[in-house]
Amino acid sequence: MSKPPVLITAALPYINNLPHCGNIVGSHLPADILHRFYTAQGRDSVLVGGSDEHGAPAMMAAERLGIPTAELTERLHDAHRRIYEAMGIGYTNYSRTSSPEHHRMTGQFFDALDREGFIHQAVEAMYFSPEQGHFLTDRYVTGTCPQADCGYEEAYSDQCDGCRRPLEPGELVNPRSTNTGEALTVRAMPQLYFDLPRVRGDLGRWIKSQRDVWRPHVSGEASRWLADGLRSRSITRDLSWGIPVNHDGVQDQVFYVWFEAPIGYLSFTHELGSDAFAKYWLNSDAERIHVLGKDNIPFHTIFWPGMLMAHRDIQLPTNIVGLNYLTFEGQKFSKSKNIGVFAHHILTSDLHPDVLRAYLTTTIPEARDTDFKWSQMQAHVNSELIGKLGNFFNRTLSQIRKKFDGRVGGELSDLTDSDRFLMEDIASFPVQIGERLSRAEFREAYRQVMEFASVGNVYLERTAPWTAVREGRTEDARRSLNLALNLGRSLAIVAAPFLPRSMQELWSEQLNFEGEVGAPGRWDEASQVGISTDHQIGQPQRLYEGIDDARLASLRAEFSEAANIEDFL
Ligand code: MF3
Ligand code: ZN
Repeated sequence: MSKPPVLITAALPYINNLPHCGNIVGSHLPADILHRFYTAQGRDSVLVGGSDEHGAPAMMAAERLGIPTAELTERLHDAHRRIYEAMGIGYTNYSRTSSPEHHRMTGQFFDALDREGFIHQAVEAMYFSPEQGHFLTDRYVTGTCPQADCGYEEAYSDQCDGCRRPLEPGELVNPRSTNTGEALTVRAMPQLYFDLPRVRGDLGRWIKSQRDVWRPHVSGEASRWLADGLRSRSITRDLSWGIPVNHDGVQDQVFYVWFEAPIGYLSFTHELGSDAFAKYWLNSDAERIHVLGKDNIPFHTIFWPGMLMAHRDIQLPTNIVGLNYLTFEGQKFSKSKNIGVFAHHILTSDLHPDVLRAYLTTTIPEARDTDFKWSQMQAHVNSELIGKLGNFFNRTLSQIRKKFDGRVGGELSDLTDSDRFLMEDIASFPVQIGERLSRAEFREAYRQVMEFASVGNVYLERTAPWTAVREGRTEDARRSLNLALNLGRSLAIVAAPFLPRSMQELWSEQLNFEGEVGAPGRWDEASQVGISTDHQIGQPQRLYEGIDDARLASLRAEFSEAANIEDFL
């Protein structure tokens, strides 16, 4: 039975700024790992994402820099795209919400909701700046969270970072301008609203039905919003930047960014062709997996599914992989204070991106917040990535090269218990790692990859092919190196979603196999033993540089500098 197609999305980054490693582990990296895994499994898989260009974040950044918003987003979109590419994130389509297709899709989606009677107009409170004589919205407005159990004083008008609750215009206590601190007044303005309460019953049932699929904190957060009660959501804003609303009675307004951005998942799929759109979004057999950070959980578990339910024709997500936060050495990432690890340095650094990916994978905040620590990165790279994985390949390949001129193929007979156990491990590790990845358990899957490498190392030590050669037991040595090479082949395949570039180099050059290490169907091959009789390996080479203290200090200095946006304009 062929497995259904799968669409994976990474949350669309705002492009008021360049990404730090918290942004990478919070969506792009785990989404990429899933996409590579499903592809290797032979699934029809795509990874879509793109820049979230609208809303207050980009406008505010452009104002600070004194340049037109469109110019800022043009340049930063390009920088984001290049950074993800350099990190080995294999987007099938990395697009942008300014694309014509996205404008079209947003209009069409809105019309569908309108036709179904989900849109109404109401005159409601909006924040007004008496000094500037115009309205301010979303992140332009800061104030105290109205929720009794929160009271966070730096809440934005559309979402509180204290309790992560989404807020409606007019709800903040003591609203003030984020930029100037000026106190704001509240004025009534006509806006369009989406009737979220009308899907409350369906949403509640659906959220319950996802309890075994979502992580507990994702389900917990979704249930909390439901319990807080759902209200109609304003979906328009009095801004000049965004997708214009064409509707009677609402002039000069654009769609609220959280209304149109998730529609980007549809638009960017449609950019791959209308058949792709139908295959992933109109097909109830397909899987749709959203990968996103903590503050995006309410939008993806409540509002976006609510929009989809109202639309009716489009399928709901089949999984919502909501992650937590990454901190840096115990502190919050901060661009202004240069606290963190900033991803744009990968464009110019000589650090192998897979080395960064390897450590970052161990910090994916699946169940709780996690911490990036340079000393842990050093330990991971030296003792796991190099000590286990690199070392296994190096020992195996150099022995094959030195003792057998690069060829250990042929019949396997007189298997020992060690050989048989190893063959069982080759059969079972890829299956187990695959099961973990299917449940989006990235860290455990990766830990098992390293354990698989350790199994290889232990096997080499136990069978000691170097001793066997010395003692004239050539056939024993050949058999053990043959099996080690088989394990190496499997290991490269299962490590590739995490370490795509280095595993491809290893595959083509050192192992000397054809094609791509992540090619469709490869995952099943990983459980098999069977390297052709006349297979000749290539030249063994060190996969990764170790990190000594001096190297650590220089990497730390290099990556801790936040991006100066002017350098990217
Ligand atoms: N731009 C938002 C953020 O960075 C995420 C948008 S995700 C989407 O928090 F669902 F709207 F696409
Ligand atoms: Zn709050």
